[in-house]
Amino acid sequence: MRTIDSLGDIAGKKVFVRSDFNVPLDDEKNITDDGRIRAALPTLTRLMDSGAKVIVSAHLGRPKGEVKPEFSLAPVAKRLGELLNKEVKLAEDTVGDSAKELTSNMENGDVVLLENVRFDPREDSKDDSEREALAKEYAALADAFVSDGFGVVHRKQASVYDIAKELPSAAGELVFKEIDSLSRATDDPARPYTVILGGSKVSDKLGVIENLLDKADRLLIGGGMAYTFMKARGNEVGTSLLEEDFIEKAGEYLKKAKESGVEILLPSDNVTAPRFEESAPASIYDTGTMPEEEMGLDIGPDTRERYAQAIAESKTVVWNGPMGVFEFPAFAKGTAAIAEAMQNAEGYTIVGGGDSAAAVRTLGFDEDKFDHISTGGGASLEFLEGKKLPGIEVLED
Ligand code: 3PG
Repeated sequence: MRTIDSLGDIAGKKVFVRSDFNVPLDDEKNITDDGRIRAALPTLTRLMDSGAKVIVSAHLGRPKGEVKPEFSLAPVAKRLGELLNKEVKLAEDTVGDSAKELTSNMENGDVVLLENVRFDPREDSKDDSEREALAKEYAALADAFVSDGFGVVHRKQASVYDIAKELPSAAGELVFKEIDSLSRATDDPARPYTVILGGSKVSDKLGVIENLLDKADRLLIGGGMAYTFMKARGNEVGTSLLEEDFIEKAGEYLKKAKESGVEILLPSDNVTAPRFEESAPASIYDTGTMPEEEMGLDIGPDTRERYAQAIAESKTVVWNGPMGVFEFPAFAKGTAAIAEAMQNAEGYTIVGGGDSAAAVRTLGFDEDKFDHISTGGGASLEFLEGKKLPGIEVLED
């Protein structure tokens, strides 16, 4: 992959950077986790320090090609300015008059953020010619392109993929760091290699589970997806989240894992409640004994201990997806236990996925105690699945 160095002397040149600033916001539009913005700083400061004029593009949410003020990057521009200690001007559009005016009046080291690229329907169009036309308009603003939004490299979109064909292009620091770290899990991982999968749906993780059944030594399953596996083993799960259509598939995975010697650990006990509510009374039930009217919202204490032990024994650990409803304190202990066990582990630890990374930070864990916290959600999952990612392939020599 081409590095920023391959772009030569960039002093005075306009560099179009794609970042992933898809950050969570609360109802007042405050950023609740700025991890993705902080992860973009090494590339941005490097370009600024080299005297480049830095034009940053990003998306927020899925506005589906329409200008929707609630998806504006204004909160990001403000936070980015605070972190860079420099004013970040926000264009009112992506390739319109405002973008053209702001980007034609830049000093070396200045940063302009374009408005949400997904306000333009061509950005994620399935029609190649529409995306290419938009990419040409982006390219007209700049002299070079740096792809640094690792979280979006699995998307074949104009500001991620097509623009790389229009300008001299390179991968940014974050993309290199992500690939180096995630490759520790895909290229001959140190063993035992344990993967912890959580989150609500089995259907979101089919590809990664299939792929890991040949590669991992152990899969620890928690979160909403665990109930579909429990059901496949014949256990009743009350009113817990269940994907009826995937019970059979989950059963096949359990069988295949057994045949290939991969250990799948499921929760042996569960923290439950009668309702999905922060203040709902919590109870603990062993798997298979959950009453009809209760729903599982977290893994139980025995499971926490078993999973922590498995993590401690591992040389490579990848975690994707929370173990329970960590946003509600009564149901956060499972997710916290995994984070803690990973912090204490001697093996190489990778936190992948938007929700688990957000959980680590919002539950107050020290990020430095993990070997790698990925900024990718879908992108890191697809990378771990071994898929080719268009935003990476396009940067290859
Ligand atoms: C993410 O949040 O995982 C990335 O920003 C990609 O977002 P998307 O799934 O809307 O393309």
